[in-house]
Amino acid sequence: MLSAIGNTPLVALDQLRPPGAGPLWGKLESFNPGGSAKDRTARALVRDAQRRGVLTKDSVVVESSSGNLGVALAREAVLGGWEFHCVVDRRTNASTLAHIRALGATIHEVERPDLETGDWLVARRALVATLVDELGAINLDQYSNRAAFSAHEEGTMREIVEQLGHAPDILAVAVSTTGTVGGCLRYVAKHKLPTRVVAIDAQGSVLFDGARGARVLPGYGAGVVTELSTLTEPHEVIRVHARDAVNAARTTARATGFLPGASGGAVAWGVDKLARDNPGAEIVAIFHDDGRAYLDTIYNDEWVADNVTDP
Ligand SMILES: Cc1ncc(COP(=O)(O)O)c(C=O)c1O
Repeated sequence: MLSAIGNTPLVALDQLRPPGAGPLWGKLESFNPGGSAKDRTARALVRDAQRRGVLTKDSVVVESSSGNLGVALAREAVLGGWEFHCVVDRRTNASTLAHIRALGATIHEVERPDLETGDWLVARRALVATLVDELGAINLDQYSNRAAFSAHEEGTMREIVEQLGHAPDILAVAVSTTGTVGGCLRYVAKHKLPTRVVAIDAQGSVLFDGARGARVLPGYGAGVVTELSTLTEPHEVIRVHARDAVNAARTTARATGFLPGASGGAVAWGVDKLARDNPGAEIVAIFHDDGRAYLDTIYNDEWVADNVTDP
């Protein structure tokens, strides 16, 4: 299973090109075995913890996840023989929770957002701290663990440049922990590439000096300034409202046949803006997962009417 991680396809998304735009490409991370880019992150976190000797067959691991890392770590736990507890919140897709459970992990769902900040992620991290104490567990901490950078520096970004045969002008990457964008930026800096790396963040996310607000979609944006984000300086940040992300996901699906997830919708919206603002530029968009787990949410009119407000 582990050998199936990475080497995901890079496909042309010509149908999304506005007039005057250069080539557009999508890096489809849903082709990883767990269906998301987080397979790469989980592999790097686990390998690093094993190397440091803190993760063995007898370990109990507790991690907070919006879903995709949970799926990836649940599989790592099966293969590594350790016990996994995943802390999630109400926004995690039902099918993703079922996937994590089917792999034998235990789910802990926080019941309310943090009282002081009103944020779900803050509440999730507090529950992780409690469970680490109660279970004598370890926490790999995807929000501060630099191993996440190496997964995307040596994996995702290297693959993109090799697949294209050159560096793209612009790379658009959704951000949450910022491990993906930070890893890509490291590759760009190390190889002195001309690529402009653009973070696609959520409106309401506090990353990169954002103003706190309600966020309804899982996967992109964050309610805490992650330690990784303090080590990461994207060349530009575009903040996308949930309504725009939903609309762009649906448009992308009907135009290209690829069904994006929620962060993929945000990335598609950002790419459209970037393509219009930068005529002729070659743009690569990373799609962290696909829309199959979102059929009951962003692709469901009733759910959207109940949950997503207008900008
Ligand atoms: C669907 C999706 N998109 C984007 C991201 C953001 O990736 P990162 O945490 O590396 O910033 C995640 C991370 O959980 C995700 O699951």
